[in-house]
Amino acid sequence: MSIIDKTALLGAALDVRPNAHAPYSNFQVGAAVLADDGQVHVGTNMENAAYPLGVCAEGGALAAMVAAGGSKFIVACAVVAEGAEPCTPCGGCRQKLFEFGSSDTLIIIGNPAGEIVMEITLGDLLPHAFGPGNLSKEHRS
Ligand code: THU
Repeated sequence: MSIIDKTALLGAALDVRPNAHAPYSNFQVGAAVLADDGQVHVGTNMENAAYPLGVCAEGGALAAMVAAGGSKFIVACAVVAEGAEPCTPCGGCRQKLFEFGSSDTLIIIGNPAGEIVMEITLGDLLPHAFGPGNLSKEHRS
């Protein structure tokens, strides 16, 4: 289990956020996931002129982790966006995060100034989650 360097993880999400492709919402989001091999993977939201095709920053970070080929178990995820309310992951992203994490996965929400505005576990965001453990081993790879 990696030690969680919250400052570094938040910094990674902060750094990648300006790369967001968000011309429709103008709501830039940066995300960074920490895998238990110590690797950090980042993503931004990526919108599309066909609006429903847009994807969230958390999903991008998870896709980068899968593509990197290392550990796929996340111990923490940092998300940075602006707004009066903390940018908690959407419902779909909570499920995507649970696929690669656990109820103990730490979700750290930051603002563009680099300040932590919320810390919460994935279990608190997505109680009684349905996940890989619900499926038989034959369905898992
Ligand atoms: N978005 C994220 O990337 N992550 C979140 O946690 C919440 C929302 C994106 C989706 C869309 O591109 C924009 O923010 C506005 O909803």
